[in-house]
Amino acid sequence: MDLPSLYSKLGKNSWKILDAIFRNLWNYKYVPLNVISNLANINEEKTRRILRALADDGIVVNKQTEYEGATLTFSGLSLFSLHLLVESGQVEAIGKKMGEGKESLVYNCISKQGEAVIKFHKLGYQSFKKVVEKRDYGNLNFLVLSIRSAKREFSALRKLKGLAVPEAYSWEGNAVLMQLIDADEMIKVKLENPEEILDAIIDEMAKFYRRGIVHGDLSPFNILVNEDGFWVIDFPQSLEVGEANWREILLRDLENLLRYFKRTYRIERDMNSVFQRIIGDSGS
Ligand SMILES: Nc1ncnc2c1ncn2[C@@H]1O[C@H](COP(=O)(O)OP(=O)(O)O)[C@@H](O)[C@H]1O
Ligand SMILES: [Mg+2]
Repeated sequence: MDLPSLYSKLGKNSWKILDAIFRNLWNYKYVPLNVISNLANINEEKTRRILRALADDGIVVNKQTEYEGATLTFSGLSLFSLHLLVESGQVEAIGKKMGEGKESLVYNCISKQGEAVIKFHKLGYQSFKKVVEKRDYGNLNFLVLSIRSAKREFSALRKLKGLAVPEAYSWEGNAVLMQLIDADEMIKVKLENPEEILDAIIDEMAKFYRRGIVHGDLSPFNILVNEDGFWVIDFPQSLEVGEANWREILLRDLENLLRYFKRTYRIERDMNSVFQRIIGDSGS
């Protein structure tokens, strides 16, 4: 079932129970039944019954061995994050699914600011391993990692406000609420003025750098274009200038970009001089 239908199906007690689990994601892999029941202020028998119904809808996973407990699924986490956005008045209605990436689910919505999108971050086992190798997140579970990923994206977009990125409106759980960009992924488009666009993207990378941000996953999939211009999206892998390996990662972003323009439009640029152009003459 999709998020909007699940959302409208849940009653007040279900939300209380999801709230109790959400608050304890950082403390337990499976939140014990008695902890949920206490926090939600619903007796254990009734809590158990509601948890079973939530499990039938794929919103929670119940565990019976050792002790009774429950955790959220990706849908459960997304639903609850959406609930927080709705409760805080940020989102008025959720619309259609716009896309499903390997690490996200993107929905159309009506927000306080008008039409917008919600990106639900989803770190599966694959990327979980990758992230753990790259950054020391210990043995945190994929729910906590998805929340961190959303937080990282939100904070990068906030720092880049006013530049060629979607404006970020809000963040709750694994959900980032942001400006809807009505444009296509660059990979799907034949640019009429590739030389000009490439220069503009390089200039934008320099502006990101001056605000202390390196994208970390720059590719023609993560640049949206239309007649009015381009927008860079997808910032959960971003890092701050000064963080470990920022130089290598900025170089890799640049390499990906230049390789694409070379392969697709036969435009050749010298890596090192473009890199210098991005980081300025200071060299640091
Ligand atoms: N602000 C936005 N406006 C319009 N479409 C978006 C927006 N953000 C993401 N999308 C769409 O959703 C897809 C996946 O989003 P992205 O941020 O790249 O996540 P992923 O990590 O899954 O690649 C994008 O390729 C794009 O088509
Ligand atoms: Mg992407």
